[in-house]
Amino acid sequence: MTRFRVFATCDIGREALDRLRERGYDLEVYPDPDPPPKSLILEKVASGIDALITTLRDPVDAQVFEAGKDTLKVVAQDAVGYDNIDREAANRCRIPFTHTPGVLTQATAEFAFFILGALSRKLYSSERLVRGNRWKGWHPYLPFLGSEVTGKTVGVVGMGRIGRAFARKCTGLDMNVLCCGSRPVDPVFLTALRELQECAAGTGLVSRACTVRETTFEDLLGQSDYVSLHVPLTERTRHLMGESAFRLMKPTACLINTSRGGVVDEEALCRALRAGQLAGAALDVFSIEPLPADSPLRDPELEDRLRLYHHFASGTAETRLSPDPDRGIAGCTVEALIQILEGGAALDLGSFDPVVNREAFR
Ligand code: GLV
Repeated sequence: MTRFRVFATCDIGREALDRLRERGYDLEVYPDPDPPPKSLILEKVASGIDALITTLRDPVDAQVFEAGKDTLKVVAQDAVGYDNIDREAANRCRIPFTHTPGVLTQATAEFAFFILGALSRKLYSSERLVRGNRWKGWHPYLPFLGSEVTGKTVGVVGMGRIGRAFARKCTGLDMNVLCCGSRPVDPVFLTALRELQECAAGTGLVSRACTVRETTFEDLLGQSDYVSLHVPLTERTRHLMGESAFRLMKPTACLINTSRGGVVDEEALCRALRAGQLAGAALDVFSIEPLPADSPLRDPELEDRLRLYHHFASGTAETRLSPDPDRGIAGCTVEALIQILEGGAALDLGSFDPVVNREAFR
């Protein structure tokens, strides 16, 4: 049997990688926590490896695909987002690449909800108060109050797997949902969610059914108390949330971003927060990661209403590390790689979700 050579730019999890070792693969894992320099990725690809395991931190561009065009059989991305990978270059070189759809849906959706809650109920300010020994005792409204999510309206931008899971979780907290996407929202999903609400209201579990409605992006911005982004980063979505979008939001509304940093114009967000065009934001992703020391998002003046997290939405042990291809990012990455290397012509692309650029096989 061929001894496949694989280079992983990161230790994506021992148990999942052991599946490759057990199959006799020649696996090299870049040992540092920081990503390898691009020159090293190029060197490994040019040396004739069969597969490259990447993370969202690696630039997988035309140079990388050109270097591997006669030998590289697959790039397996350990993430669902793949805006770091040049699809056209991959297709030109006929190299398929994979990602990990499905496995991080619930972790990301629940995190988006948690940071929405943390922002709304000022959890960061509350803990700082207690830890800083500045809490003077209970008072009806001092030193500050939060805002309840129950009964409020959440606008979900992007209704793929994660957007839909997030919307469903929000109805569990009795929020009304407005949603929009680049394609019409799946009517089966909308009907199911409405029926669930009506059932809860009909049986007296809630006093009234939450509403769930599809609308335009502009209407959603104007009507929502929270706007949560669940879109991939593309040319069309880059700076989707910029000056004109912030102008449409309610001054009491908050923005939640667990998608990609580039979807938000960070300078415009800071200006809008200062001008009171929106009340707050919780960001898990940034246009440059890690967040630069001189980022405008670090302005102390915005600290009370701007929550910043370290690209942590999918960061649960189960979701990041499980070797089960239906449960973990690592498991799904490794399984996709094995299927492509070993599946050959027998690989049934029709039912094989992880391949992004199916056109590369043609
Ligand atoms: C995380 O952001 C991912 O794309 O998997």
